[in-house]
Amino acid sequence: MAMSVETLHWKSKYDTGVEEIDLQHRAFLSLIIRLGGELAETKDLKYRERLLEEIAKYAAFHFISEENLMMKHGYPGLEPHRQLHRDLINQLSWRRQSLSDSDLLEFLVRWFIHHTVEEDHHIGDFINRSKPEVLPGPG
Ligand SMILES: [Fe+2]
Repeated sequence: MAMSVETLHWKSKYDTGVEEIDLQHRAFLSLIIRLGGELAETKDLKYRERLLEEIAKYAAFHFISEENLMMKHGYPGLEPHRQLHRDLINQLSWRRQSLSDSDLLEFLVRWFIHHTVEEDHHIGDFINRSKPEVLPGPG
């Protein structure tokens, strides 16, 4: 079933409960939606290539941020999670050659939603569980 990128919007089930991750996820989703619209409107090959590069660079940045948070909190699933990120970056580069723009965007959106809801939620749960109790202030 085809998915319309333009009608995508944030859903509360995408929230992980970690502010930094959620902010970046929202930015990533709106980037995909905005650039998806741009891709549909332009035939300029150079510009299309740059738009896809923009998405790939944002993904790479966001993954490093997320991995650093996992590292900081001693998240036990860091390595397999990092591997999922690497796989996506690799798939993005070969799918860019072989898929149409709309198929590529659909692939990206599906990956994003699945990964966010299934994998990133575990990070949120872990970090929020391991947060130290708020100590009462002096006096
Ligand atoms: Fe992730």
